[in-house]
Amino acid sequence: MAKILIADDNNGLRDVLVESLASLGHAVTGAADGSQAKSALMADDFDLLLTDLRMPGLDGVALLEELAAAERSVATIVMTAHGSVETAVKAMHLGALDYVEKPFPLTAMEAKVEKALERLKTEQENRRLKDELQQRFGSLIGGSPPMQRVFELIGKVSQTATPVLILGESGTGKELAAREIHQRSQRKDGPFVCVNCAALAEGVLESELFGHEKGSFTGATQMKRGKFEQAEGGTLFLDELGEIPLTTQVKLLRFLQEKEVERVGGSKVLKVDVRVVAATNRNLKEMIEQGSFREDLFYRINVISIEMPTLRSRREDVPMLVSALLDRHRQNTGLIGAVDEEVFALFQIYEWPGNVRELENVLERALVLADAQPDGSRQITPTDLPPEIQGGEGDSQAQREYHEATGLMAQMERIEREMIRKALEDTDWNQTKAAKVLHLKRSSLQYKMKKYELSKPGSR
Ligand SMILES: Nc1ncnc2c1ncn2[C@@H]1O[C@H](COP(=O)(O)OP(=O)(O)OP(=O)(O)O)[C@@H](O)[C@H]1O
Ligand SMILES: [Mg+2]
Repeated sequence: MAKILIADDNNGLRDVLVESLASLGHAVTGAADGSQAKSALMADDFDLLLTDLRMPGLDGVALLEELAAAERSVATIVMTAHGSVETAVKAMHLGALDYVEKPFPLTAMEAKVEKALERLKTEQENRRLKDELQQRFGSLIGGSPPMQRVFELIGKVSQTATPVLILGESGTGKELAAREIHQRSQRKDGPFVCVNCAALAEGVLESELFGHEKGSFTGATQMKRGKFEQAEGGTLFLDELGEIPLTTQVKLLRFLQEKEVERVGGSKVLKVDVRVVAATNRNLKEMIEQGSFREDLFYRINVISIEMPTLRSRREDVPMLVSALLDRHRQNTGLIGAVDEEVFALFQIYEWPGNVRELENVLERALVLADAQPDGSRQITPTDLPPEIQGGEGDSQAQREYHEATGLMAQMERIEREMIRKALEDTDWNQTKAAKVLHLKRSSLQYKMKKYELSKPGSR
């Protein structure tokens, strides 16, 4: 159903049009001249205007001009008496979609109206899709100017093979950005290999990255290919680059300069075709001054840098992130969540030191705490949030409740894990049957199995 306004000083024609379009299910209003039409259009939103051109007082063309000046333009079909086609052309220039010459059969007008409405709908849908597309870049979400700049940069660097350094606080999406660069590059069919440089001890990191030859150190009973070799033809993501020890930095520099690596304990030089993307939340310039990061390596790897904005610097993205994260949660668990106005208000003033990851965790936990609505969905309210977000110093009541709740939560999780484990055992680890016993969707069961690290004994 569309809202249509018909402006014509010919009462007979106007009434017939009102009636026929109303019988097609539209909400139709008549106006006896241009001024009446203008008042109606200023006061209310219409989808479509059908207007005569020659009317006493304000004529059709003047009406369109005044609407445009007031930024109240509306999709329009003009009706024109024989001989005033030139005026009709003028109306088209003023943005009218179409025109009909009088007299016309009613069916012709009905067809034009339906066609115009169809076209408006398609345009609206296209606009919506475009808006949404612009606020999403693969798995990265953000319509804010700083995120838009990041999307643009990623789009550009993915077309090159130069090293990229991604900077930003914890939880700002550095890894997501690295994956996006790979996905959009010509290497997308090659491997994307991740190494967390902070997780490994010095010697281990080196043989992890570059591999080692058999017998190169105690325990090296077999030759091992390093991550560089594994990433051949693809992208190597060096996460937490700032944690790389100086000795390993030298080897990395050699790769960046010569595209060569050598396994630990080996002498063979291996040529590899790998694109390096690195990330860090450390200040590398400071580390250079302190002598813990090589300046030459910094310049080699920092050919292009992308700074991921903090969540607090792009608060306008919070509502969209919340809805996307709740959506993702719903797909994983079947749990439908919503956030009330007050929660959004608190989110807008919170600092988010852990950025998007923190938002993700806050939502996930709040969903567990939130009261179930009659329809089974969960409405998150301020009391479901951690005290630091609820704010209000000395709010010991909220704090107490929060701690009680988390104590209770831990208890409930233990019980839930046990029930799931038992159902799986009883059904000989048949997930479909176990899900039925537990009244869970199979996908929810799988999600929980992962969460509680439950798997069939001997299957790992
Ligand atoms: N712009 C974003 N849109 C959607 N999800 C995001 C965005 N940024 C981050 N996330 C989500 O937040 C979480 C953290 O992202 P990611 O691991 O990429 O951050 P990071 O910068 O590498 O953090 P850290 O420095 O702690 O390793 C992930 O679950 C990711 O899906
Ligand atoms: Mg990371």
